[in-house]
Amino acid sequence: MGNRDIEGRTVLVTGAFGGIGQALVHALLEAGAREIIAASRQPQPPNDHRIVTATLDVRDQASVAALAEAHAVDILINNSGVNTNTGPLAGSAADHAREEMDANYFGLLNMCWAFAPPMVARGNGVIVNMLSTGALKVLPRMTSYCASKAAAWSLTQGLRAELEDKGIDVIAMFPGATDTRLTAHLRIPKLSPKTVADATITAIRDGVLEQRVTLTS
Ligand SMILES: NC(=O)c1ccc[n+]([C@@H]2O[C@H](COP(=O)([O-])OP(=O)(O)OC[C@H]3O[C@@H](n4cnc5c(N)ncnc54)[C@H](OP(=O)(O)O)[C@@H]3O)[C@@H](O)[C@H]2O)c1
Repeated sequence: MGNRDIEGRTVLVTGAFGGIGQALVHALLEAGAREIIAASRQPQPPNDHRIVTATLDVRDQASVAALAEAHAVDILINNSGVNTNTGPLAGSAADHAREEMDANYFGLLNMCWAFAPPMVARGNGVIVNMLSTGALKVLPRMTSYCASKAAAWSLTQGLRAELEDKGIDVIAMFPGATDTRLTAHLRIPKLSPKTVADATITAIRDGVLEQRVTLTS
């Protein structure tokens, strides 16, 4: 198997029971993944024998480390995320910014910190970070969410630099507004979660390290 094959691989997806997460799990099953570890703070019963559920809060470093000890993961998809839809002058701005940084940056850091070393030891692996177009350009009323995703983009680039000569690919996905719980309040045209999931599968297979997914792309 090459580094980019999905067939026969063990894949871990965080936020696996959210909108994009469920579409990813479905797309990975279709792509022939051998095992999917579907991680969530509140996992639901699996509907396929190849799905194993895991209760995980990505902010909890000890739980993340224990999960990495328990599973040899070929492809890690860091998909979990929160968006408080907060502007910089809102009364709750600082608390919401911390919440987003905790989940979207420190949670991502915990995952990469725990799951990358076994990949390095094996000499291959793929890490996919579900960022956002907001990592590249601040979106209205989402200042701190975008800041957390920009920080995650910096982490992605740093990781890539450290891991590129060790057989590990670090992929950044930049979806635009997608029709999930995260954007339920937005009355704008949105991507389907399936479009984002399919683009992620294609990026993994085709060796694309940075992929924007928008209604116009
Ligand atoms: N929807 C969009 O427009 C859009 C656009 C660009 C990027 N994204 C990104 O795409 C990813 C998926 O989002 P989505 O749109 O599918 O939203 P979603 O349906 O709300 O799913 C996000 C999932 O993240 C999980 N999560 C949140 N905090 C967590 C934590 N501390 N530990 C573990 N899991 C946690 C939640 O799972 P549990 O509550 O079950 O734990 C939730 O199911 C996110 O990273 C988001 O930022 C979304």
